[in-house]
Amino acid sequence: MASSSFQAPRGTSDILPEDQPYWSYVWGTAASVAASFGYERIDTPIFEETALFSRGVGEETEVVEKQMYSFDDLGGDSITLKPDGTAPVCRAYIQRGMHNQPQPVRLFYQGPYFRYERPQAGRFRQFHQFGVEAIGDASAQVDAEVIELGWSWLASLGLTGLSLSINSIGDGVCRPGHLAKLVEYFSEREDGLCSDHKGRYRSNPLRVLDCKKAPCVSVSGGAPRSVDDLCDDCSDHWDELRRTLDLLVGEGALSGYEENARLVRGLDYYNRTVFEYEPAERKGQSTIGGGGRYDPLIEILGGPPTPGIGFAIGMERVLLNLKAQGVSVPGGPVIDIVCVHIGDAAHDRMLALASGLRATGRTVIVAPMGRGMRSQMRYANSKGARYALILGERDLENGVATLRSLKTDDDQTEVSLDPAVIAEASR
Ligand code: HAM
Repeated sequence: MASSSFQAPRGTSDILPEDQPYWSYVWGTAASVAASFGYERIDTPIFEETALFSRGVGEETEVVEKQMYSFDDLGGDSITLKPDGTAPVCRAYIQRGMHNQPQPVRLFYQGPYFRYERPQAGRFRQFHQFGVEAIGDASAQVDAEVIELGWSWLASLGLTGLSLSINSIGDGVCRPGHLAKLVEYFSEREDGLCSDHKGRYRSNPLRVLDCKKAPCVSVSGGAPRSVDDLCDDCSDHWDELRRTLDLLVGEGALSGYEENARLVRGLDYYNRTVFEYEPAERKGQSTIGGGGRYDPLIEILGGPPTPGIGFAIGMERVLLNLKAQGVSVPGGPVIDIVCVHIGDAAHDRMLALASGLRATGRTVIVAPMGRGMRSQMRYANSKGARYALILGERDLENGVATLRSLKTDDDQTEVSLDPAVIAEASR
């Protein structure tokens, strides 16, 4: 069979030229919103030691149990394509001695992540995240800052109808008691749980709260709420978070938030604050992004005890929502000039002129060789070029070319073969 039968691996996409304006727009605005909050960019490797994720994200999470792209490399080390950005950023924080910098260290990242999931709308095996991490400050003000940052970006994109849910899942002091209460609650209602969770709620009862299947949703409705079981420190933190968010709502920086007792998130490193952003259209993959506090993580990874909080937002889901809401984005690159040439000598001269024009900042394509003038003009029009620069054999002898506007009828001028002159005439 011909090699054209190759397909991109299931759950991956090609980001084709026509989609690139969306991507440039979302990446660009994310970076500038993050920078406006004082966050600096960090890039970590595409793969890491497997143990970073099993220890960091949690052995019992769906991501680690079922979704990691792990393999032994030729040296026999177990390597994993990163399913998450938080563990790698915390690894870098420890390894690069960032605890010696002023705290908190504010970082953001953009890039591809990998999870072996069942592909469907908004769920892929290679997807992209914009994420931030604020490491080294336990105060609720930083939680509010991170929540506001993600919200500001989503709102600045022009998305409407977004909602924000928050919860506190407590910490190592109060969570064990709460988990015990949940186990007791579910054990009395085990028959009502979905088949996945019937026997399994004991080891991680929070998973039942996260389960989207109708039986678990129904049983979870009356489950004990973590916010009712918080210890004093967590309770103060939760109050302070809501007070700060209320201030932001009052200032118009957030449009509001909901407290959602069932919000627990699927990764094990979280404590205290967890939150999610949801789009207006809640079909299918409703969550567009989420995050929370992970105060124990850096110590679990071998660093000094250091609190942290962050979020990640899925770019594909943002793009789905932008398109569904018909939000327009700035267009892609415009071709300023297509160089049309008649004869080999004119072609050769055009190559030099095109280089000179590019150096002035113009976007220039030299029309394909071996075609007549009409065909080259059709090509220029099909590329949406603003101008055709036409050079024939006689023009070459006279040291001139014709600059023809493709956007305005009958608008053409004679220009000398000087890139600066042509650039000026094609402004
Ligand atoms: P997460 O909830 O696993 O959190 O992922 C965050 C977002 O990434 C999701 O809300 C979704 O938009 C997107 N996402 C996740 N998996 C897929 C997928 N298979 N296909 C398409 N999009 C996907 C984290 O990753 C945490 N590291 C967030 C965080 C940062 N917490 C603290 N700091």
